[in-house]
Amino acid sequence: MQPDESLVAAAARVRPNAWAPYSRFKVGAAIRAASGAVYTGVNVENVAFPQGTCAEAGAIAAMVAAGETRIAAVAVIADAPAPVPCCGGCRQKLAEFAAPDVPVTLATTAGARAVTTVGAMLPGAFDSSFMPAG
Ligand code: THU
Repeated sequence: MQPDESLVAAAARVRPNAWAPYSRFKVGAAIRAASGAVYTGVNVENVAFPQGTCAEAGAIAAMVAAGETRIAAVAVIADAPAPVPCCGGCRQKLAEFAAPDVPVTLATTAGARAVTTVGAMLPGAFDSSFMPAG
């Protein structure tokens, strides 16, 4: 799979706006929704550390607020030695709105790229098929 460079560019554009005074690790995320529209997010930390939110969560919230609920592609970028994988919680959050074959481009500001999928990041996912109807 090829990296989605236009989606990486959208994530890179918002990354400087991340609020990361505690980790000093700014992350940008971009989601291409089913309509083709792109929604972005950044990590937003908090002095009460567990209250911080990831960039992916911000992009998902922007997409849902705009009335969209299907993800076609994802990109995440950070200034790191290697492309940063989404955290476990964000894998579950993405899986709520993305099919397993949805591509995820992981990027560094230095130009490294890795491409994976939502399904590869979250094998054995819990989904609604496990819940009794009702
Ligand atoms: N972070 C993200 O926003 N997304 C990821 O995929 C990995 C981690 C944030 C959370 C926290 O603000 C900082 O990076 C350090 O963990």
